Amino acid sequence: MKVLVTGGLGFIGSHTVVELQNQGFDVVIVDDLSNSSIEVLEGISRITGKTPVFEKLDLREKSQVKDFFTKHSDIKGVIHFAASKAVGESVEKPLLYYENNINTLVYILQELVQNKIGNFIFSSSCTVYGQAEKMPITEDASVQPAASPYGNTKQIGEEIITDVAKVTNINAILLRYFNPIGAHPSAEIGELPIGVPQNLVPFITQTGAGLRESLSVFGDDYPTPDGTAIRDYIHVVDLAKAHVVALQRLIDNKNQQKVETFNVGTGTGSSVLEVITAFEKVSGQKLPYKIVGRREGDITVAYANTDKANTVLGWKAKSTLEEALASAWKWEQKIRN
Ligand code: NAD
Ligand code: WQD
Repeated sequence: MKVLVTGGLGFIGSHTVVELQNQGFDVVIVDDLSNSSIEVLEGISRITGKTPVFEKLDLREKSQVKDFFTKHSDIKGVIHFAASKAVGESVEKPLLYYENNINTLVYILQELVQNKIGNFIFSSSCTVYGQAEKMPITEDASVQPAASPYGNTKQIGEEIITDVAKVTNINAILLRYFNPIGAHPSAEIGELPIGVPQNLVPFITQTGAGLRESLSVFGDDYPTPDGTAIRDYIHVVDLAKAHVVALQRLIDNKNQQKVETFNVGTGTGSSVLEVITAFEKVSGQKLPYKIVGRREGDITVAYANTDKANTVLGWKAKSTLEEALASAWKWEQKIRN
């Protein structure tokens, strides 16, 4: 069965392509390489023994999106990763984010309706919950006003899909990722942040590799046991597998609603200091860090209640924080050598 993976050369997309190919799907990747490298295709081939079809295409080009679906008329499902994802940049360049994250979504949905493709998986984010009142966060927790244009594109994206599914053939699963980290255990693919990493784990591994002098820990005065903020870090391979299970659910018509939403996390929260300690253990070296002030816009704590994903979707994260960090460290060392 042929599936389209948009943004399939990116961090989460590439790991998902591997899992899809491992399960026998024929994958077509569309990516404009704006935040990824063509070499990722070779990494995927080395892991799976199969090179996915790749089309370099900017999904903002509406007529080209149309032509793509005409050419690939046998696509049965779409996993839509392609988007811009830097929270800070989205504040500086809101229109870029609304164009890239919303226009592309609309163009793809138009083609799904036109070509009667019913199965759609969307990359959403725990950012839609803002600072939730209750931990762990369940899917029915209220969506909070977005703290950034990026976050807003995920909320609007979910709403667009819900409105469209009501009146069309589309069935959709919205996956709300918590904090994806790590790399494929083979170290053939992983995260490739451009410039100075904004996210914690790439910053840690680059510091461990000597590229950065020290990690700045953003705040130790949060109301948490050790004062640092808590997140739910999920191994990207576990996250990738959730997409395959979700797609299969739609293909098998097992979904109970036109649009279903699932949290994709581990269910365990880890503080920044706990992540540092775990990294030190798996890397066997001390990590230089200093405590600085809080980062604007950061929340105190977010971790998932994963009961719905575990029972309804039939998916559960397997890797520990240490396993995820070990894979990130192996990848960092590989790309520096
Ligand atoms: P990524 O930047 O590594 O991957 C996105 C890919 O999409 C890149 O390869 C990029 O080149 C491509 N792309 C972007 N705009 C495109 C366009 N107009 N046309 C074609 N290709 C385009 O990001 P990622 O971390 O793999 O994230 C994938 C998805 O998951 C995104 O939608 C992101 O918002 C969402 N998400 C990510 C996280 C995270 O922490 N990484 C958390 C929650 C949700
Ligand atoms: C994790 C923790 C930081 C860097 C972001 C997006 C969110 C989602 C995932 C897409 C926080 C602390 C970080 C550093 C630090 N993306 N930290 N020093 O902020 O939870 O979520 O990525 O949807 O929308 O906002 O992830 O990895 O940036 O930070 O102390 O140099 O690490 O303060 O507590 P975050 P992160």
